[in-house]
Amino acid sequence: MHLRIRAVRLLRRVAFVLPLLVLVASACSPEHYPQTALRPISDYGRIGDDIQTTTFKWALGVFVLVEGALVYAIFRFRGKPNDPEPQQIHGNTTIEIIWTVIPALILAAIAVPTVRGIFETNATPKGDVLKIEVVGHQWWWEFRYPDVNVTTANEVHIPVGQTVSFHMSTADVVHSFWPPRFAGKRDVFPNRETRLWFKAEQAGEYPGQCAEFCGIEHGRMAFRVKAQTPEEFQAWIAHMQTLGAKPQAAAPPADSVQTVSAGAKVQAAQEPAKPGAKPGAAKDSGSAAPPAPVDPAYAAGEKLFMAKGCVGCHSLTAVNAPKGMIGPNLANVGARSYIGAGSFQNTDENLSRWIQNPQALKKGVLMPNLGVTPDEAKSLVAFLRAHQ
Ligand code: CUA
Repeated sequence: MHLRIRAVRLLRRVAFVLPLLVLVASACSPEHYPQTALRPISDYGRIGDDIQTTTFKWALGVFVLVEGALVYAIFRFRGKPNDPEPQQIHGNTTIEIIWTVIPALILAAIAVPTVRGIFETNATPKGDVLKIEVVGHQWWWEFRYPDVNVTTANEVHIPVGQTVSFHMSTADVVHSFWPPRFAGKRDVFPNRETRLWFKAEQAGEYPGQCAEFCGIEHGRMAFRVKAQTPEEFQAWIAHMQTLGAKPQAAAPPADSVQTVSAGAKVQAAQEPAKPGAKPGAAKDSGSAAPPAPVDPAYAAGEKLFMAKGCVGCHSLTAVNAPKGMIGPNLANVGARSYIGAGSFQNTDENLSRWIQNPQALKKGVLMPNLGVTPDEAKSLVAFLRAHQ
């Protein structure tokens, strides 16, 4: 009778806690935590998720069986006052063999797909593979597309349905490249190339993060993966190939082949002529377009970009971009979703705050405060915004 009363009390407590648990668990929705590996959208991501699911199912089964037997034994064989000494058992070969063999089999069931997964994800991808070079920097990411001679930073564009192979290293300390929806973490080292590949299955913009402590702003060393349809991706590459050196300075490189749709992009960039927006975009573009009227804020911003020394650390060309720059490439900074390596949304207001006082937004960032006034920041924002 006592036993039953206690069991009822225990059940009541569980009944009280369970809804709380459900509430807590429901707060962990993927919308609130987009940096999740539990909803993979690539072949690589699926391999990892399958291993995780397999392991979890075995663990859940073991947990339910063991805890179930334990709870049952606690209630069924509960001692009462005046009970005699229980029967003492010293070893039982049959039971010991059983509880050694069963876990060994379970571990084998987990180990086989795990080892297979390790080999699969470390194999060199075959077929139509897009090579992207990744360079980690304190605290931002450089992305190079060597086959099409294009460089960008912090937002890597990839085509859906094609395997991309990242060839990775670092300019300074050890970082770790982690695009959670697509693949696992992979460390990047100085003077050594590590690789990571995956084939994206779904278009969209997804967060990524440096996953190895690398200094004060490790937490703000994020990036974005922009997965696009093959057509959108090709259009983006073609557009980026127009962001070379200014026409009078240099001709487009001879190996640049995909400039067909570039002309159309330039025209589109000129048409809207929004105040403070596009005019500069045409300035850096191919020689086919007639020169657009220059916005005064853009022109002032361009002067400041040179005078304040920004140009010493940031390149504005995507084509033939110089290597070894300290700051991120800004060729298409105006079109990016975030600034400060995935830290702040790329609004004019945030960009202006950043230019005036980067140390206040990202303490320790290698960009110093350059004594830019609010008016000067306005011009610089107009100049940078035009670099799409
Ligand atoms: Cu780079 Cu942490």
